[in-house]
Amino acid sequence: MVMLVNVIEAHDVSFTYPGANGTALRNLDLIVKAGELLAVIGQNGSGKSTLVQLLSGLQLPSTGLINIGNTEVNDRNLASIHQQVGIVFQNPGSQFVGSTVAEDVAFGLENRQVPSDEMPAIIKRCLQVVDMWEYRHTSPATLSGGQQQRVAIASVLALQPKILILDEATSMLDPLARQQIMNLLVNLRQQGLTIIMVTHHLSEAEQADRALALNNGEVLAEGPVHAVLSQQKLVQQLELHLAPGEHLLNQLQQLGISTPDRYLTTEEAVQWLKQRLNLTQ
Ligand SMILES: Nc1ncnc2c1ncn2[C@@H]1O[C@H](COP(=O)(O)OP(=O)(O)O)[C@@H](O)[C@H]1O
Ligand SMILES: [Mg+2]
Repeated sequence: MVMLVNVIEAHDVSFTYPGANGTALRNLDLIVKAGELLAVIGQNGSGKSTLVQLLSGLQLPSTGLINIGNTEVNDRNLASIHQQVGIVFQNPGSQFVGSTVAEDVAFGLENRQVPSDEMPAIIKRCLQVVDMWEYRHTSPATLSGGQQQRVAIASVLALQPKILILDEATSMLDPLARQQIMNLLVNLRQQGLTIIMVTHHLSEAEQADRALALNNGEVLAEGPVHAVLSQQKLVQQLELHLAPGEHLLNQLQQLGISTPDRYLTTEEAVQWLKQRLNLTQ
């Protein structure tokens, strides 16, 4: 068996915002291995974004220790941490600096002082990965939310992070755009990127390898994703969003109608229902 490297190690990490009464994150232990996709779930205010900030060196732990690769997150190592961790946030429009999609990807490369003759190949590769190459001359402002998030991901990937963190990056997108981002993340994970994804959507969380559930700043559950998500009470407590198809199938189940015992996308649920109703169109 291959021993996977620990990319993130957090030991007994707590964090209190300056001047705040409560502790935003308490006694967190976490190990993320290379190439894992970790879903971070929990209600609003449970500490998810605080964790993201700590793992990316945007905040430093009040107590405890975080290692990213072999680098401790502290005020002397921030440049190295920022190089290893790329973040995509919730609001797509707020992240753009270039007047075209290609310029936007180039901007981060310029900041890192990547030689300009190396840039076109990197820009092309990253925009192709997110399926946005044909939009390279387009203004980011005119793109859909899903397209904007794909460009934001390309801009981060261009900097070759070890870890990609998405903090509710799909929450403003429609279901199709969300699915496109998820497909992209699953592909990137297969290529060995370590990914942490904060989400309220059950349909996204269940595509991860592991899940970390936070509640009121503490770890409520952590483990293989199906072990965590199969705890129905827990999932209810976390207020995860169900897709319309999941709602429909849940209702049917409650009526005693047997439904597939795996997750169906809305489209698959519609197909399944059509078959049950013997509809041909
Ligand atoms: N900048 C801040 N200053 C003070 N308290 C904050 C700040 N940001 C978040 N908090 C508090 O920390 C806790 C965790 O917040 P956050 O990590 O943003 O949760 P989540 O991302 O899960 O919604 C909440 O109680 C929130 O009010
Ligand atoms: Mg948040």
